[in-house]
Amino acid sequence: MTSYRPDALIASDISAYLALHQNKSLLRFITCGSVDDGKSTLIGRLLYNSKMIFEDQLASLEADSKRLGTQGQEIDFALLVDGLAAEREQGITIDVAYRFFATEKRKFIVADTPGHEQYTRNMVTGASTADLAVILIDARKGVLTQTRRHSYLAHLLGIRHIVLAVNKMDLIGYDQAAYDAIVEDYRAFANSIGIAAFTPIPISGFKGDNITAPSDNTPWYQGPALLAHLEAVQVDADADRARDFRLPVQWVNRPNLDFRGFAGLIASGTVRPGDPVRILPSGRTTRVARIVALGGDRAEAVAGESVTLTLADEVDCSRGDVIASADAPPQAADQFEATIVWMDQTELLPGRGYWLKLGTQTVSARVQPPRYAIDVNTLAELSAPTLALNDIGVAEVYTDRPIVFEPYVDDGGQLNKDLGGFILIDKATNATVAAGMLRFSLRRAQNVHWQAIEITREAHAAHKGQQPRLLWFTGLSGSGKSTIANLVEKKLHAMGKHSFLLDGDNIRHGLNKDLGFGDADRIENIRRVGEVAKLMTDAGLIVLTAFISPFRAEREMVRAMLPESEFFEIFIDTPLDVAEARDVKGLYKKARTGEIANFTGISSPYEAPARPEIRVDTTKETPEEAAERIVETVMGTWSPVI
Ligand code: ADX
Repeated sequence: MTSYRPDALIASDISAYLALHQNKSLLRFITCGSVDDGKSTLIGRLLYNSKMIFEDQLASLEADSKRLGTQGQEIDFALLVDGLAAEREQGITIDVAYRFFATEKRKFIVADTPGHEQYTRNMVTGASTADLAVILIDARKGVLTQTRRHSYLAHLLGIRHIVLAVNKMDLIGYDQAAYDAIVEDYRAFANSIGIAAFTPIPISGFKGDNITAPSDNTPWYQGPALLAHLEAVQVDADADRARDFRLPVQWVNRPNLDFRGFAGLIASGTVRPGDPVRILPSGRTTRVARIVALGGDRAEAVAGESVTLTLADEVDCSRGDVIASADAPPQAADQFEATIVWMDQTELLPGRGYWLKLGTQTVSARVQPPRYAIDVNTLAELSAPTLALNDIGVAEVYTDRPIVFEPYVDDGGQLNKDLGGFILIDKATNATVAAGMLRFSLRRAQNVHWQAIEITREAHAAHKGQQPRLLWFTGLSGSGKSTIANLVEKKLHAMGKHSFLLDGDNIRHGLNKDLGFGDADRIENIRRVGEVAKLMTDAGLIVLTAFISPFRAEREMVRAMLPESEFFEIFIDTPLDVAEARDVKGLYKKARTGEIANFTGISSPYEAPARPEIRVDTTKETPEEAAERIVETVMGTWSPVI
């Protein structure tokens, strides 16, 4: 190689080393392949040949190679990269490892992503910021499901540069015909998913062929060595600057009354003081007053830079809003079609509320049952009731308020990762369960507006001389919900109150007769009942609902739909053995014999409320006593309508 010795320079003059690298361009890339395609060996060799391994690491690598390595007495480069002890023992790579190295021409950050199918999550994480993907193939095995899956994901996530590294060429005797066949096989697949071009390179990570220099073993190969290609590939950072200006606001900087700055990372475009801008989703327009940056005010800032803007007018603008060029703003919407990659052991629950995080915006969102899932081998669109771990599908997503977005890939083929890519987070566990790409907003939502209604819910309530309430009874089947709710309603009725009781069994004969007892149907059951109950409180009624409502998340969803003082969660706490012993409808018996599937408490979960407003222990209180106490509690908080 060259006389360039970063290790020596780092040791003798660190500032000279840093200065040397400051102005080099940066390429971020990922390597993907199946478990033993040789990724770690390849990366180890790149690091080794760019002299980023220091003497002490090298010594321990040599020692480890003798002890643990799979390569006899030679250096096992994989050991360098497979840093985690667990990985060494299992012989697989299990987390995204980011590594930095540099050559004379360029700086690199490589995300080494695991090959195991269950680690799609890590691949998505690594790929979301990459400019280029190295897809590794074992020359003895050719194109595998994993190869297709990784290529599909890389393309889906918008990686424009694909290298097909056909590895282990040494093991097939550097056979050109075998190599050509693999490349053709891959080309057919790549073209079918929209990858127009890719760079194939025959390599051996182990022997070092075509990694840093052209190999004598492949005289028939005229292309560049891998490193030369990585150094030369054009990544168009300038293109981002030429696009329309977008700044997703990360935080509002307000140190004193005289200064109000909006800070964030410029996603695209260029901004100058005086530029007309629009704040989204509100749509208000103003002008940029100043661009405040670390070293003082700036005359211009571009995509990729973190800045603070001040605006000419006092407009509302907070975290999650987007400041955009006034004449070409992005859209705001609350219904979308999206491609979703499911990354969690627990499958998607259609209808369940998840946190959707898109850039600096976080909203509650529900995913509809998928339109289809995609078979990455055949690209067939499969019908699928839900998405399980590693599934990729297309579904409608509804957010509870409009978000500012751009299609992940727009009509012009332009990538908008910042305003088009999102993740879904489970509200209970805080785990990231999916990654998604917005395709487009649904037009039906754009054409439906809120109609202002002049007789307000307050007017309805005042007319009835009462305050609306929602008494939400929850508990196992046969716990006594309907019995107690009936008694409560009779008492309210006798008091001259306007009430209505929605009962599970009855609603399932009408409005919800299309729903069964799977998780998704129960979620939809409660969503609809919640919406109906909410409308009834808008009409001024005291509403009682008696549904098992087994999931905490949906009960909380309904709670969030109402003013705090109006919602009462009433937990009819009857132990399973007691409800089963009563077995008023004979259903427990059927559930035990397997005649009824998904029966709550037996073959389907019940998540007891943690902090209900009222808890009734039916082994200690009679229904009459419970009803009396409920009325007292609910009416005790009564305040006259003003
Ligand atoms: S929920 O889970 O979706 O809230 P809901 O309260 O509407 O359930 O309906 C429960 C009633 O349906 C029960 O009281 C029982 O009579 C009947 N039922 C029929 N099959 C089941 C089942 N698999 N699990 C629970 N209840 C069932």
